[in-house]
Amino acid sequence: MSDKELVALHAANLVKDGMVVGLGTGSTANLFIEALARRRNEQGLKVTAASSSVVSTIKAQSLGLPLISIEHFSRLDLYVDGADEVTPDMTLLKGRGSDLVREKLMAKAADQFLVLVDQSKLVSRIGEKFAIPIEVIPFAWQLAKRSLEAIGGRGDLRQNASKDGLAMTSHGSLVLDMTFDAGMSAEQLNAALNATPGVVEHGIFLGLASAVIIATDGKVEERRG
Ligand code: 5RP
Repeated sequence: MSDKELVALHAANLVKDGMVVGLGTGSTANLFIEALARRRNEQGLKVTAASSSVVSTIKAQSLGLPLISIEHFSRLDLYVDGADEVTPDMTLLKGRGSDLVREKLMAKAADQFLVLVDQSKLVSRIGEKFAIPIEVIPFAWQLAKRSLEAIGGRGDLRQNASKDGLAMTSHGSLVLDMTFDAGMSAEQLNAALNATPGVVEHGIFLGLASAVIIATDGKVEERRG
């Protein structure tokens, strides 16, 4: 079993009867959806799922998980998702996909937000390996980019997968992938991005994770805040 499968299984085993569980997006989240569906089918676990993306909705539907849409809840028992970077204080960088808005809403709405990663995602500071994904309203992208450049940001609009156009999020936003000076803390960056007009959402998840489940060479460790 791979490290990603191990953390997915570990998280699925933490789900209790009757829970409403948010499903993240990405390869690790997909493995969690599969493990959750197996528990439902094989052990009769009673669970209702809510999805953070079209891709996760289709995955959950194909495995028979009952779903409610985001309009129909104001809280979740649990939200389970992967991440691109995790710092020692459990600040996350997410958003390689195109569903940041729903992901952050669901992370915030959950009593518990479990983050599933392997060792390769652990970093000492946010932005160490990846640029920060910043969703911007299409008509405001140049104004937002200029504001971000004024605080030291460097980067550009994300291209689509075939590199012949621009990537668009499921909410119709464009994405600026920006790097910032290493001296800027995640707290400072989070506050600056939250205060930038035209920014819809960004990939820094600060103070949202309840636990990070990490797999390293077949061993699973759970870190709680
Ligand atoms: C999508 C995300 C993903 O959770 C993150 O990119 C990790 O993906 P994977 O589990 O495939 O490594 O934030 O927006």
